[in-house]
Amino acid sequence: MTGATGALGRLVAARLAGRDDVVIGSRAPEALPAGTPARRIDFDDPASLEEGFAGVDTLLLISAGYGEDDVVIARHGAAIEAAEKAGVSHIVYTGLSAAGDHLAYALAHRWTERRLREGTARWTILNNGLYAELLATLAPVVDGRITAPLGSGRLAAVAREDLADVAALVTAGAAAHAGRTYELVGEEAIGGAELAAALTGATGATVSYEPGTLAGAREAFTALGLASFQVPMLVSTYSSIANGFMDATGGDLRNLLGRAPRSALEVVVAGSREQGQGAWRPAPAARPFSRVRGDRS
Ligand SMILES: NC(=O)c1ccc[n+]([C@@H]2O[C@H](COP(=O)([O-])OP(=O)(O)OC[C@H]3O[C@@H](n4cnc5c(N)ncnc54)[C@H](OP(=O)(O)O)[C@@H]3O)[C@@H](O)[C@H]2O)c1
Repeated sequence: MTGATGALGRLVAARLAGRDDVVIGSRAPEALPAGTPARRIDFDDPASLEEGFAGVDTLLLISAGYGEDDVVIARHGAAIEAAEKAGVSHIVYTGLSAAGDHLAYALAHRWTERRLREGTARWTILNNGLYAELLATLAPVVDGRITAPLGSGRLAAVAREDLADVAALVTAGAAAHAGRTYELVGEEAIGGAELAAALTGATGATVSYEPGTLAGAREAFTALGLASFQVPMLVSTYSSIANGFMDATGGDLRNLLGRAPRSALEVVVAGSREQGQGAWRPAPAARPFSRVRGDRS
């Protein structure tokens, strides 16, 4: 597998650890837990791909999606080409749910899917829905209010742990999944109102939902000094949710897990409480959740 130090990759690596037929790949193999054979794999470094994919039969390709389209496409293209050259017979790819077509980062995922379908290796595409953990970050509580511009839209969020379970089990039994594209979205759609109610219930302190505007979000993100490609990524995420493109539930998650998915709402609530911060929190020292709980320090 690639990407083993990312938030998703770490979880997958933990599930594959201990197998004697697994090699874990990352740009930073030295940061990986000892015990499982590791290789340096950096999509930007062709030599690392040649060595990293040598002898590999099935590759789990974790998308490296933070960048402009040309950067991400070059990375994924290089990885797939190198895998084909190395004789990898099956590539499992972590992509983006079909519902995400209007997201600014969808194109690179669609390009990668097309490249896999046209390639020489067998493939399986895991079209991941947006993480519940991401929603916790996108809809922070500040001074008892959620002001993320989610309108009345909702997100069929999915727990990252469930996506890691699926990635590990599909990769370990890839032959049974050849040529399949799975839609891995959650089973409950969560919007600002649901999240505010759940946080109120969990904390006893009132959290309200007062949706802001996309323009306000764009200004706040820009003021934070994010990389320029990140601003449209985030704003398009709000817009896609707010306008009802991301709320379709169902898909293949339950079937592949063989059980009910984790509660995405519980994950979002836990994430909000843990981090008490968000991408467009106004003041660096703000502790939004503490404030909700009455701690003004
Ligand atoms: N579904 C969602 O809600 C959602 C949200 C955010 C992102 N994503 C996508 O899903 C991927 C995994 O999510 P995450 O939460 O684990 O993101 P993350 O914690 O930011 O991890 C970034 C991932 O990209 C890999 N990467 C970056 N540059 C690379 C390069 N040059 N060569 C090889 N790998 C590279 C990293 O691997 P290393 O171990 O080598 O550093 C790591 O696995 C992201 O990269 C992004 O494409 C999905």
